[in-house]
Amino acid sequence: MLTARALAQPNIALVKYWGKRDPALNLPERGSLSITLDALWTRTQVSFDAGLGVDRVLLDGRDWPEGLARTSACLDLLRRLAGSRLPARVETHNNFPTAAGLASSASGFAALVVAGSAALGLHLDAREMSILARRASGSAARSIYGGFVQMQAGERADGSDACAIPLPGGADWPLRVVVAVTSSQPKAVHSGPGMELSRRTSPYHAAWLATVEEDLAAARTAIERHDFGALATVSERSCLAMHADMLASRPALIYWNGATLECIHAIRELREREGVEAFFTVDAGPQVKAVCTPAAASRVAAVLGGVAGVQEVLVSGLGAGARLLAGTEPTA
Ligand code: PMV
Repeated sequence: MLTARALAQPNIALVKYWGKRDPALNLPERGSLSITLDALWTRTQVSFDAGLGVDRVLLDGRDWPEGLARTSACLDLLRRLAGSRLPARVETHNNFPTAAGLASSASGFAALVVAGSAALGLHLDAREMSILARRASGSAARSIYGGFVQMQAGERADGSDACAIPLPGGADWPLRVVVAVTSSQPKAVHSGPGMELSRRTSPYHAAWLATVEEDLAAARTAIERHDFGALATVSERSCLAMHADMLASRPALIYWNGATLECIHAIRELREREGVEAFFTVDAGPQVKAVCTPAAASRVAAVLGGVAGVQEVLVSGLGAGARLLAGTEPTA
């Protein structure tokens, strides 16, 4: 049996990704920019074994049929590279809600590629793993790296230049992310079909895409200068422009609930009235992520925890990239 274990962490985009230029190869229309978290994680063990017959995926110890097709498709890419046809048993564990807008697909597929490639004896570098993770989930390409990360849209039709790169400028900028969980239900429309719907039907899609290059440049400058105010401005506007595109899709994609909007107002008020260094971002789900300075984290967590409808508040620092783990206990 060929076995390996890996850990990966979700990332939160500050300049968002919403739209594919090639759905089959999962190539993004534009770049994006994210931070990798440390408090949330996926741990995945992959074991290739001829005796299994077919691939099997377990999430938190239970068979997970919903995750099987995408997992097998990702494993097929690895098997093709290794010249192998061995089926695999994948045991994966998240310490946070799955498919609820907390980027579980990013950490999940990053961990799968790192563990799966090691189990098959493929010696891939981070760039190659980022490209493979992208095939499964665009945001997973970013979770291969820690800290601040930029996803490059690339230009080539085969996707060989569509990979993430680490942004070293933010290495010594210890930000915190306060996650307000407003629902633990899986989302109704996954990001993949959601962004295809926006690309095909939203009259705002071209306008949304037109914001991204300028926002990427502004975010990179803010990170290099450790300019919190500038990063707040660009991150909130990128998030809201993406949600405008989602809202204008036909039928509309409304990922927020009432508590999502209350959290957004609470963060804006904290900043505007009390000068607290915090800004919000929201992905394809109802959770709100507040990015803040370490000094502001306890105040932000207390305020978001007090918003009606907030079920749980998690505080995270910025994490390292995906990595192999020793041992063979999937959830240890
Ligand atoms: O790559 P996916 O399918 O996980 O899509 C990610 C989409 C957003 O989370 C909404 C934005 C982003 O850049 O992470």
